[in-house]
Amino acid sequence: MTDVLPAGSLAGKVALVTGSSRGIGADTVRYFAEAGADVVINFRNKAPRAEKLASQLREHGVRALVVGADLTDPASVGSMFEQVSAEFGRLDILVLNASGGMESGMAEDYALTLNRDAQLNVLNAARPLLADGSRVVFVTSHQAHFIRTTPTMPEYEPVALSKRAGEDALRELIPSLEEEGIGFTVVSGDMIEGTITATLLERANPGAISARREDAGRLYNVSEFAAEVAKAALDAVPADNTRLVGDTSGFVAE
Ligand SMILES: NC(=O)c1ccc[n+]([C@@H]2O[C@H](COP(=O)([O-])OP(=O)(O)OC[C@H]3O[C@@H](n4cnc5c(N)ncnc54)[C@H](OP(=O)(O)O)[C@@H]3O)[C@@H](O)[C@H]2O)c1
Repeated sequence: MTDVLPAGSLAGKVALVTGSSRGIGADTVRYFAEAGADVVINFRNKAPRAEKLASQLREHGVRALVVGADLTDPASVGSMFEQVSAEFGRLDILVLNASGGMESGMAEDYALTLNRDAQLNVLNAARPLLADGSRVVFVTSHQAHFIRTTPTMPEYEPVALSKRAGEDALRELIPSLEEEGIGFTVVSGDMIEGTITATLLERANPGAISARREDAGRLYNVSEFAAEVAKAALDAVPADNTRLVGDTSGFVAE
């Protein structure tokens, strides 16, 4: 996993990726560290994984702070940014990657609580640390981004609707973010090979992922999609604040 971002391009910068102990978040934070950024690894449950990743990233000569925080708990989010402030005093890149809503045993509105309310709260709590020139990236799926025009699998629909509600709520902040020189980009991708979400959806709808792979030509894997998320934090913000990754055939634009 090298050369996704130019070497040294993030030296002196600080990047936080929510939900970065594993999966797409872990690979994204790794790309930032490889480019020289000091990083904040946020986890909810997977503390040992987060600590192991931090030790690997420190071998690149960067600092890595590990912070456990349930993003649906405002006190936990407040404490996370207090720790970031104490350790680094600033934040240059915030990636809103953590997501959920298909877990069993959660409250009925959990998907909205995590994918909309918590995203807004995390961004608002981070704002005092985000200076002119900093960047915010919100990670989503095509199945969520296009949910208003393109139906998805029933098991994923509540997640898709909640993620789109989160995206819309964050987009409302764009004018005030721009006023402060903070760039905001939504990165949307198709189903990703090898993720728990794709596995769960395939189990509920046998053949669905292979059918999508066939329609799209190919599906990205975790490290390929994470590379797009990482690049979105450095590349110019697109005019419509949206970076669509891979094939979008079958998804209807609004
Ligand atoms: N999977 C796909 O096919 C796909 C496709 C396109 C876009 N995406 C997007 O990519 C992003 C990452 O997806 P993924 O598949 O890597 O997700 P994932 O495997 O479900 O991982 C979610 C991450 O979020 C964290 N998290 C969940 N609930 C949390 C909470 N309440 N507080 C703090 N952290 C929490 C988890 O932390 P713990 O492990 O510590 O619990 C985990 O690190 C999401 O925004 C998703 O919509 C995914």
